[in-house]
Amino acid sequence: MMPPLLQAADREKARRRLAELRELIRYHNHRYYVLDDPEIPDAEYDALFRELQELEGQYPDLVTADSPSRQVGAEPLSQFAPVPHRLPMLSLENAFNEGEISDFLLRLGRFLNTDQVPELHAEPKLDGLAVELVYEDGLFTLGSTRGDGVTGENITANLATIATIPRRLQTGADKPPGRLEIRGEVCLSIAGFKELNRRRAEAGETLFANPRNAAAGSLRQLDPAITKTRPLEFFAYGAADSSELKVTTQAQLLQQLHTFGLQLIPHGRVCPDLATALAHFRFLAEQRQQMPYEIDGMVIKVNDLALQKRLGAKARSPRWAVAAKFAAVQAATRLIGVEFQVGRTGAVTPVAILEPIKVGGALVSRATLHNEDEIKRKDLRLGDTVLVQRAGEVIPEVVKPVTAQRRGDEEAIALPSHCPECGRELVRKEGEAARRCPNPQCPAQRLRALIHFGSKAGLDIDGMGKKAVELLVQNGLVGDIPDIYRLRSEQLAELPGWGEKSAAKVCEAVAAAKNPKLARLLAALGIRHVGEVNAQVLARHFPSLEALQQAKEEDFLEVEGIGPQVAASLVTFFNDPATAAMLEQLKELGFTVSPEEEPARQLPLQGRVFLFTGALSEISRNEAKARVKELGGQVATGLNRKVTHLVCGDKPGSKLTKAREMGITILTEAEFDRLLGGAI
Ligand code: IVH
Repeated sequence: MMPPLLQAADREKARRRLAELRELIRYHNHRYYVLDDPEIPDAEYDALFRELQELEGQYPDLVTADSPSRQVGAEPLSQFAPVPHRLPMLSLENAFNEGEISDFLLRLGRFLNTDQVPELHAEPKLDGLAVELVYEDGLFTLGSTRGDGVTGENITANLATIATIPRRLQTGADKPPGRLEIRGEVCLSIAGFKELNRRRAEAGETLFANPRNAAAGSLRQLDPAITKTRPLEFFAYGAADSSELKVTTQAQLLQQLHTFGLQLIPHGRVCPDLATALAHFRFLAEQRQQMPYEIDGMVIKVNDLALQKRLGAKARSPRWAVAAKFAAVQAATRLIGVEFQVGRTGAVTPVAILEPIKVGGALVSRATLHNEDEIKRKDLRLGDTVLVQRAGEVIPEVVKPVTAQRRGDEEAIALPSHCPECGRELVRKEGEAARRCPNPQCPAQRLRALIHFGSKAGLDIDGMGKKAVELLVQNGLVGDIPDIYRLRSEQLAELPGWGEKSAAKVCEAVAAAKNPKLARLLAALGIRHVGEVNAQVLARHFPSLEALQQAKEEDFLEVEGIGPQVAASLVTFFNDPATAAMLEQLKELGFTVSPEEEPARQLPLQGRVFLFTGALSEISRNEAKARVKELGGQVATGLNRKVTHLVCGDKPGSKLTKAREMGITILTEAEFDRLLGGAI
């Protein structure tokens, strides 16, 4: 046994790391799902997620309700009307090697109380965007993105431009049910992606990083006419609820969807056992480079739909499926330089400059080096031959130097002690990986903060993109946020490449961004550690901007979901006289904050705490617990004052007597069953 003091220290360390991981993952979720602009490779994201899950596994009581391990994706942007999904659109758990695939099968067996592997259906995992199509009496009536899994965005008009989404389902012998919610992936082929980028390069527009981002950007166009010009395709992989179809397996379901006129993902197959599924996985991994679409793994599903239903889902993923991910694609090239970029919050990030090389089909000449510790840890030197990796086909990263190929003339990488933009000495706080420029007036930081303010993650001001902000700053028209609201269209019209029309348009957009919701403004201000999610948490808790300005550290810490790091950052921000001056100026310019609306989400078992005792006969205890959690209830591990319901199976023991004394509601298995049925 570990001494209690050490245990407490470990626990505290885990608590802090968990808070950090939640924050990091939320940030990257937002970049990936909302901004379609990821900052790190998928493999690195997966590693963060895995670390979170493992730590939460070790310290289950440190799991917070808002942990990304319990949530899907990120909350959608408000450009499109929200669409609640009738049944949640979940994510998938990942398996990174063959061992983890067989672990998945073991988990199935344990849940179902059998050692027989059920029949499986294996299909490629397309790297696109999940969408839901609603057909009513065979007619396409509503299409939405996944969003946070509960609520998506209404993108019906954009989806209607996709040729492979039928307006009306084909009906033969089988009529579709009154309402059918088809789920699948919207993708852009690799050829379509290249062609689109070629057109964009010609037009001088920014290029998409990969087919997935291009598909996401194309689907989120406010003008469907633009979406129509993008060669998007839809592939169906399931239905929210197949109970009204005459099918009993995933394979039959897909066949039925095909008969209705939908395109299926090629290379799906029924696998009677693990060995067949693994063989198919190896086959797809080999085929991957030749496929017209990017695939990043293989989804293994329980084929029998009734079994799927029985297995159900955990908070963010179903128990009946797993995503077996392919290993990343790597290539070797030379490291010819390192650039140091100053970010919005002053963090200095090293970027590797590489001799251009093709990795998994894309030309790579820059790759992230994350931070200086990574350079040291990997012992990278200038002139090194390095292994470069694109995982999930997003941002490339340098994996390691190929030390065997060193010639002896490689040079150490000089780390800057001063900001490459403003010359101020950089500082590194304890426990932080990044060196930062502490100068809030640093031109690089100010520019990035301004770009952030106008961007999708900020107030989403039309015409205030990166290029426009750079131009405004270069021309001395904008130096800080209030300056944006001081812009006059005569000034803008004189800028190179601008005219009266675009100047007037931008002024209109700026005026329209004068009374944002509090959460939106908080996210736009670019406060460290305050992304969209934390901004929403804060806006729900504090009634006004003034209340936030007056709040003390302990007031922030009281808010569920706000940890010490975020609280400290908020205090620093709001205590800074420059912040007060900026907010005062905004007020003088007629800037106001509009009130938040309260979202209401209530699940039937919310507020109830269940404890189980004795053996259940109809379902396993795990399944019973899962049902309670699905419906918003909690499960206790022992009898305490919080328990509201005791469910008694066979031979309940002493808990029953005690619970009776405490006045807790006692349920038989049959009553519990009815409660679930009634609640559903
Ligand atoms: S089934 C309950 N099948 O992968 C989730 N998903 O992280 C059921 N995806 O959002 C999903 N190809 O967009 C399924 N053949 C396939 C898929 C697939 C790609 C995506 C899907 C989902 C994500 C899971």
